[in-house]
Parts: sequence; structure tokens; C-alpha cells
Amino acid sequence: MKRTLFGIALLAVAAGAFLLMQPPDTQTTDAPLAGDAMVAVQIPASFTEQEQMGQRAFDAACASCHGTNAQGRQDIAPPLVHKIYEPSHHGDASFLLAAQNGVRAHHWRFGDMPPVSGVTRAEVMDIVAYIRALQRVNGIN
Ligand code: HEC
Repeated sequence: MKRTLFGIALLAVAAGAFLLMQPPDTQTTDAPLAGDAMVAVQIPASFTEQEQMGQRAFDAACASCHGTNAQGRQDIAPPLVHKIYEPSHHGDASFLLAAQNGVRAHHWRFGDMPPVSGVTRAEVMDIVAYIRALQRVNGIN
């Protein structure tokens, strides 16, 4: 009898220790942080010359908000490699307008996109070529 009680007590202590060792709340540690990528973007095996120029222009003028490879940045700006931005819904002109005039928040809750200064029309067209190349390998046509 004594032995059984001892055994039960030992089990209780072990169970208590096990519970204490669990991380307090695994949910919060998994929550995305501001600036995190919002989608996983596949990269094409190669880019054309125009797409490469577009990538450079994008990295300089847009990636601070839209993220590397246009993968989006949590709490900052949406991924452009996203079904919403497929060519039939956001044609090339929408990129020119976005850079020139900015964008009123309407698809997301990030707030407005301000106009981007210092990027030429030609550079935006290169950026479009780059974004379309990314979209294609990610199944967005
Ligand atoms: C200061 C942050 C910021 C920068 C810099 C920025 N964007 Fe945006 N952009 C946003 C946000 C936020 C939205 C989402 C607006 C919404 O809710 O629909 C957006 C939306 C867009 C859209 C969708 C337009 C539409 O008609 O819905 C395009 C295209 C776009 N951005 C392209 C660009 C390009 C190209 C650049 C670089 C030249 C750029 N953005 C730089 C924040 C930014």
C-alpha cells in the first residue's frame, strides 16, 4: 500500500514538472511579426534583362513596403505576387498609376500607398515585367 502511494506521488510530481516545462503559450510565438513575409514566393530560374532591371528598380523603390520578391510585409504592404494582382485584375496601367498617384487603401488594411517619387515610367514598366515573371512561376496568370 505504502509503495502504491509513493508511486502515485512520484507520478504526480513528474506530471507537474512536465506541465511546468511546457512553453507558456505556443500560439503567440507563432503569430507573424510586423515586416514578416506574407506569402512564399518561388523564384524563376532566370530573368530577362528587362526583368533584372525591374528587380533593381523594385528593390530600390518598392521592396521596403512590398517586401523582397514582392512577398509582402506583415502590417506594412501586401504581396504583389498574389491573385488580386493578376494581369486581368490589375493591368500594367495600375502599376503606373500606383507609382504616380499612390493608392487609396481598398483591398487591405495597410492604409494608403503614397506616390513614389524618383521612379520613371520606363522603370515602372520594367518593374511590371519583373512582377509578372514572379507571378507566372507562382501560378498567377
Ligand atoms: C510606403 C509603402 C509603399 C511603397 C514604397 C510602395 N507601395 Fe505599393 N502599395 C502599398 C500599399 C499599402 C498598397 C495596398 C493598398 C490597398 O489596400 O489596396 C499598395 C498597393 C499597390 C498596388 C495595387 C494598386 C491597385 O490599384 O490596387 C500596386 C500595383 C503597387 N502597390 C505597386 C507599387 C510599386 C510598383 C511600388 C514601387 C515603385 C510601390 N508599390 C511602392 C504600399 C507601398
